[in-house]
Amino acid sequence: MARHLITSALPYINGIKHLGNMVGSMLPADVYSRYLRQRGHDVLYICATDEHGTPAELAAKEQGLPVDAFCAQAHNAQKAVYDGFALSFDYFGRSSSRENVEITQHFARKLNENGFVEERSIRQVYSPTDGRFLPDRYVEGTCPHCGYDKARGDQCENCTRVLDPTDLINPRSAISGATDLEVRETKHLFLLQSKLQHEVEEWVARHEGHWPHLASSIARKWLTEGLHDRAITRDLDWGVPVPADTWPALAAEGKVFYVWFDAPIEYIGATKEWSDQDPENRDWKSWWYDADDEVRYTEFMAKDNVPFHTVMFPATQLGVREPWKKVDYVKAFNWLTYYGGKFSTSQKRGVFTDQALEILPADYWRYFLIANAPESDDSSFTWEHFTATVNKDLADTLGNFVNRVLSFSKKRFGEEVPDGGTPGEPEAKLGEEIARLLAEYEDHMETLQFRKAAASLRALWSAGNSYLEEKAPWLEIKTNKDGAALTLRTAMNLIHLYAVVSEPFIPATTAAMRTAFTLPDDTASWVTADEAKSLTTVPSGTPFTVPPVLFAKLTDEDLEAYKERFGGSEG
Ligand code: 2FM
Ligand code: ZN
Repeated sequence: MARHLITSALPYINGIKHLGNMVGSMLPADVYSRYLRQRGHDVLYICATDEHGTPAELAAKEQGLPVDAFCAQAHNAQKAVYDGFALSFDYFGRSSSRENVEITQHFARKLNENGFVEERSIRQVYSPTDGRFLPDRYVEGTCPHCGYDKARGDQCENCTRVLDPTDLINPRSAISGATDLEVRETKHLFLLQSKLQHEVEEWVARHEGHWPHLASSIARKWLTEGLHDRAITRDLDWGVPVPADTWPALAAEGKVFYVWFDAPIEYIGATKEWSDQDPENRDWKSWWYDADDEVRYTEFMAKDNVPFHTVMFPATQLGVREPWKKVDYVKAFNWLTYYGGKFSTSQKRGVFTDQALEILPADYWRYFLIANAPESDDSSFTWEHFTATVNKDLADTLGNFVNRVLSFSKKRFGEEVPDGGTPGEPEAKLGEEIARLLAEYEDHMETLQFRKAAASLRALWSAGNSYLEEKAPWLEIKTNKDGAALTLRTAMNLIHLYAVVSEPFIPATTAAMRTAFTLPDDTASWVTADEAKSLTTVPSGTPFTVPPVLFAKLTDEDLEAYKERFGGSEG
């Protein structure tokens, strides 16, 4: 049993995430974590809110809150949604934690000792009115290319051109509106990534063969373009402070580390937060330090995060010259689009995770999203596709099977799994098919191919329906009561098997399916090939109840209402 360390990209603190964020990182990481735990592995699934940087400061300002209070509140709001989605984090931390501050400062000191950090002077916009240097996106003005008058110093939202704050016409401070801006010299710490290019290249070369194409191709592209030295400090109030013992002058000026420097370190920081809550029983370092031989580390993220995780963070880790665990497998995702267009937090386009849960329980979303995960290409969310999938796969193929079998059996044989009949050719054929599909499903899960895993799961559910149609117990019962009992008992065993193996996808529903049976010792967390073939785990005489309808069918009126509320194709 290997030890599996799993992380999903840390969601920015500002704003509730949309379904595209969910399917590109946290949800597949959860499905994978659940699967591995069920297979008996030691799993640690870590995530956290990414709390530093300008967006957090701006969002706090917009809400009129001090930034730490804003972050505490926003962290709880996100955590509540993730609980609603049944994400089984072992720990959901905060990058502003004391632990992350300590480890980030440690990394910076080590990088400095090893000759990978340099102080350099740069010219930056200063606002005397605000009494501070302004980060690029705190400078607003008119875009020199398209004339848009609210362009930001890093980029024009209107024409998407990348800008330098000094390019802006009539620049002003986004904080105060002050126009008396100056350009002043200021010092920042630079990480000398260029010196690490060769080592990162070697490290990537050793791993990229095992990574999915999306991850390795992006890593290659960045390496080919070359690693540039980059500023890892900023003039912000909110962030990990530059340690005064090493850089007293910069610390006195209030410099903090750039958010992308401390965010990936929070994977480690959050593990220490988890450990610090129960130090007797948890050992964060055993997951991260000198752990190459025993820990397998898998990261989940959307494609825009790949350069940071395959090139920049590894460069940082290599430069520290300590044996910190580096990623073994990078599972990257393309974009989920909304009717072919962008999901956008700022433009409130698409479906947000809190709204999704207001409409329907998490399992509907979990299944749909994973079955349509943007793995090899972008994939598009439409309400038409969503309602059709829910109705066909969840309501008809799985839900209806469960309710039909249990209600019919209860009506004809009472509240215990019926006895009678001897398994014959159809049961043997079914058992073979289930064992084959189960092996396929396991294979896709182990290779992190989520769409294929969902297809195998669906095929497992369908096999039960085909068997039921073929045996037609509602006819069989008229001439062969024992035969009907055998059919229903076999189908009930399928229900139990589905409850066990579908858990990573739809954990709340499978809990209801499993507890329908009062089995004395129902602790198995997976199904062996032999059990799949014989389908006898639930013996005759086992009491059962009929659970409420597992998945409601969505109507045309539902579909219209969703499109009305969220916007459809015309978006
Ligand atoms: O893109 C994002 O949402 C970032 N907050 C991801 C950070 S991942 C990690 F490195 F912390
Ligand atoms: Zn522009």
